[in-house]
Amino acid sequence: MTTTTNKPPGQARSTGPTVQEVLAEEAARQVVPSALQSESAGYFGVADLPKERYLSPEYHAREVAKMWRKVWQMACREEDIPNVGDTIVYDIADDSVVVVRVTPDEIKAYHNSCLHRGTQLARGQTSMASLTCPFHGWSWNLDGSMRNLPCQWDFPQVDKAKLTLPEVKVDTWDGWVFVNLDPESGTLADYLGEVLPAHFEQMPLKSRFKAAHVQARVPANWKATMEAFIESYHVFVTHPQIVMFTGDHNTQYDVFDQHSNRMITLIAVPSPSLGDSVGDDEVTESLIVDFLGSDAPTELGEGQTARDVAANAHRIEFSKLYGVDLSKMSNTEAIDAIEYALFPNFIPWAGDGFPIVYRFRPDENNPMACIVDVMLMGLCPTGIDPPTAKIHWLDNAPGSDSPDWTEAPELGALGAILNQDMGNLSRVQRGLRASRKEGVTFSAYQESRIRHFAQILDRYLEA
Ligand code: FES
Ligand SMILES: [Fe+2]
Repeated sequence: MTTTTNKPPGQARSTGPTVQEVLAEEAARQVVPSALQSESAGYFGVADLPKERYLSPEYHAREVAKMWRKVWQMACREEDIPNVGDTIVYDIADDSVVVVRVTPDEIKAYHNSCLHRGTQLARGQTSMASLTCPFHGWSWNLDGSMRNLPCQWDFPQVDKAKLTLPEVKVDTWDGWVFVNLDPESGTLADYLGEVLPAHFEQMPLKSRFKAAHVQARVPANWKATMEAFIESYHVFVTHPQIVMFTGDHNTQYDVFDQHSNRMITLIAVPSPSLGDSVGDDEVTESLIVDFLGSDAPTELGEGQTARDVAANAHRIEFSKLYGVDLSKMSNTEAIDAIEYALFPNFIPWAGDGFPIVYRFRPDENNPMACIVDVMLMGLCPTGIDPPTAKIHWLDNAPGSDSPDWTEAPELGALGAILNQDMGNLSRVQRGLRASRKEGVTFSAYQESRIRHFAQILDRYLEA
């Protein structure tokens, strides 16, 4: 493929093999999920986006009222609350939701606020026989009915039977628990659309377990931060240590039904921006030895591609980790970065390797900071029910307004990459404030997922 800058806007593509060319060749000799053998680019024009969306408290207030209080949001995994009485709190702007396992088969969610004087009933992750307020001891059964009102004689105006906890809508999909603060909202199934469930049917996360969950505050707007994770355009400059084996600028970007999109970045192909100078052995050495730290073979056998060798190294490493036979795992599932996104802030990867999941939300009502969750979804080792990772909160590094992600060893090689990404973000936020330029510029294709989500957000704000 040659550079095609003379094409109509949105149709130009990088040099280098396309994802579909590579997968078509591999599908002739491996079972490649059909979900990955499709392409649906979106074009959203080339207009700048207003920078107030990253800075303005008024814009944030509109986001809360018209978007955060209307959309389905991932609150936790089902296995975060495995036992009756387990609770986990999901905070978003002014709202706080406590998600509770009510029976082995039922999960409910409530506004996390005592009906006496407003105290939060729960914090973080805990387990309780009843939802009991720590202030004066008003308590509710797990099903939301009132259980105990100390000194009821002093509250002649309160009818205990009517004082049930106000519920928040809750539903589940593929092992994830979602909440919606709008009692009039549509169903989660309608919100998810058709494509996302169909694709994850082929690459389910339900059967996986949460092997790591790290959470931290990042000093940048939640959208600016998320936008750094839904394009591979930045890889060449921000992550120079992986360009030898990452097809960054020839990443495929897809847009699906109303709330979801995807990118597929090929691994074990060199960045097209390196030209034709990189040999297969440099690709496999750089990925397998330098990045993975594996002693798996790096030489190409007869008829093998660098991707075959790299995928084989991943299969060997994953098999060691999980004790399961992964010999049938396709190259793309083993090594590629297959990243989906569900508006507004839920970013699950797919594939059989070690899918990452991101979540981004504003830090309370501060448009200049956000809370980031990074999870790793492991394969369940045969015959073992591994423990679900608890949330590991990362404080800021000493003398810094940002955390050091390598302080979370459970993230492995991802920690150093996250430091590179997050290192940009405090500069993004500070620089946007200093900018004299009216808008923020995005590319037509490589940043099309950002434009897609911006367009969805506009739709909510204008409704
Ligand atoms: S505020 Fe909750 S019991 Fe008083
Ligand atoms: Fe990155």
